[in-house]
Amino acid sequence: MSSVKELVESNSLKSVPSNYVCIKNPEDSIFYETENIPTINFSQLTSSNPNERSKAIQQLGEACRDWGFFLLINHSVSETLMEKVLRACQSFFDLTEKEKREYLGRELFDPIRYGTSFNVTVDKTLLWRDYLKCHVHPHFNAPSKPPGFSETLEEYITKDRELVEELLKGISLSLGLEENYIHKKMNADLGSQLLVINCYPPCPKPELVMGLPAHTDHGLLTLLMQNELEGLQIQHSGKWIPVHPLPNSFLVNTGDHLEILTNGKYKSLVHRAVANTKGTRISVGTAHGPPLDHVVEPLPELVRDDNPPSYQAIKYRDYMKLQQNHELNGKSCLDRIRI
Ligand code: SIN
Ligand code: FE2
Repeated sequence: MSSVKELVESNSLKSVPSNYVCIKNPEDSIFYETENIPTINFSQLTSSNPNERSKAIQQLGEACRDWGFFLLINHSVSETLMEKVLRACQSFFDLTEKEKREYLGRELFDPIRYGTSFNVTVDKTLLWRDYLKCHVHPHFNAPSKPPGFSETLEEYITKDRELVEELLKGISLSLGLEENYIHKKMNADLGSQLLVINCYPPCPKPELVMGLPAHTDHGLLTLLMQNELEGLQIQHSGKWIPVHPLPNSFLVNTGDHLEILTNGKYKSLVHRAVANTKGTRISVGTAHGPPLDHVVEPLPELVRDDNPPSYQAIKYRDYMKLQQNHELNGKSCLDRIRI
């Protein structure tokens, strides 16, 4: 199967091959510019001033409850490192197809998996997206090419974990729990961290294709950064809203496992990525979850007689399989384990 990048580069594409053309509902093509997603200031969240910190924690809780998505600014990952990561990711996709194919993966838990679309064995329509997925924690895996790529990623994913640890403290506190509660309960020191690098080459007719169809993310939190081209859209109050990322910020979303833990209080929002005509969009997401064999269920502290568990207990690994083995169809995979 050729990659989208190869397809785009080998033909001077004027139209989209029919196996990439997807049928869209008319309302899926309308989007609204009306609302901005919440912004969380990381330096306030980690402030030594208790008033400042508790205000930021409250804002974080509201963002997770009302949106499930927020922009994280004033964080501790340097601009230089973020730019270096984006350049490194671009240069991975610029390797020859022969070099990249060394990393072709077939199974969800292959440590490194280069591929195209979502899951070519279940996708009815191909997606306008190539990807590289690496399981980077508790064991670090990354391609050894291009030179320096693996070292850059390793530096980045360590910083990224530090951000998540602080965010989980804020989230625990916002739920009235002790600050290390979720971290400990999820055994996050040995937690799974999956790096997903998406490459969306330019498309002559973006309205006919889909980069990544509507879905929610597995895991507790996803941190996403991207180059200057837009493409992410989120579904809020039934409307599609395009996200305008700020340079050097992260887009953070609460994943399905935070929704499960909080018994639905914090939402895992449906989102998608659309293609564009202008250039290659690169996005780098990291999904942070518990260890793969950890069973996740609603926290007893957040369940009451009048608020019984809404989700079945399930191993993180099995949930990931459940998501991977079905075509992304616009619905959350959570629907499959809802009680
Ligand atoms: C994703 O949802 O995993 C990626 C979204 C994006 O590329 O913006
Ligand atoms: Fe996602």
